[in-house]
Amino acid sequence: MNSTTVSTGTENINRSATMIRLHQARVTFDKPEGGTHTVLHDIDLDIAAGQFVALVGRSGCGKTTLLNMIAALVEPSSGSIQVHGTSPREARPHLGFMLARDALLPWRSAQGNVEYGLELRGIDRATRRKVAHDWLGRVHLGGSERLWPWQLSQGMRQRVALARTWALDPDVLLMDEPFAALDARTRISVQQQFLELWQSGPQRTVVFVTHDLGEAITLADRVVLLGEGKILDDVEVGIERPRDLESVAAHPRYQELYERFRASL
Ligand SMILES: Nc1ncnc2c1ncn2[C@@H]1O[C@H](COP(=O)(O)OP(=O)(O)OP(=O)(O)O)[C@@H](O)[C@H]1O
Ligand SMILES: [Mg+2]
Repeated sequence: MNSTTVSTGTENINRSATMIRLHQARVTFDKPEGGTHTVLHDIDLDIAAGQFVALVGRSGCGKTTLLNMIAALVEPSSGSIQVHGTSPREARPHLGFMLARDALLPWRSAQGNVEYGLELRGIDRATRRKVAHDWLGRVHLGGSERLWPWQLSQGMRQRVALARTWALDPDVLLMDEPFAALDARTRISVQQQFLELWQSGPQRTVVFVTHDLGEAITLADRVVLLGEGKILDDVEVGIERPRDLESVAAHPRYQELYERFRASL
């Protein structure tokens, strides 16, 4: 592992351990007009340490709500959830979050954006500089450190966001349609870099929300299909790694899974 990462103890993760466990987790929201709306129905889900899980489903089926529950942004109305052996709130220092819109701070350079999270953690200036510089290099943005967000393309901004997330060395990565705003070619190149990062170190647990079936099968070890707040399907992808993102769609297993999920949706 790269020596300039900020260790939160990833090296000690037991691969056979459960990293995220939802037991009968239900989320109910109050409706503005009165009454309630159950968005997630008694979800049981175990995610092993180091596993890459894609969460797929139609718009409004509850994907973001599930992710937000893991991130301690939404509390279950009933049932329980454990992350990293504790409550989601206590597990927060071990979590990294990345969204479709990069949400870079406009008044900070690429480098300053990657340093931001480290600053919040109280990491000293020299280490911050070095870590941020190193991660920008790893997402092929070496030389662009001083550019402002408005000077970056959407693909570059998402790579800055990847570097920012990764620089915190999280054990669990929560990603909500992180590449949805990119055009097809840029998306493949950013996905490829993301997979390279994921494959290059101790493997982090990833929960990756997407409504794109192809993206889910291409990237993940396991695909969980959600529909109207329930788990409709849950399958191991079983395509060998490393994967070539340009050709994985021609794999017979890809096609089999694609058809299977399409039929369920
Ligand atoms: N804070 C909230 N208060 C009330 N209702 C909410 C809240 N958050 C989400 N919902 C409702 O929960 C349902 C699921 O929303 P969620 O954002 O989880 O869907 P999603 O699967 O992520 O959809 P998309 O693919 O469009 O992002 C929707 O009907 C939404 O209106
Ligand atoms: Mg969503």
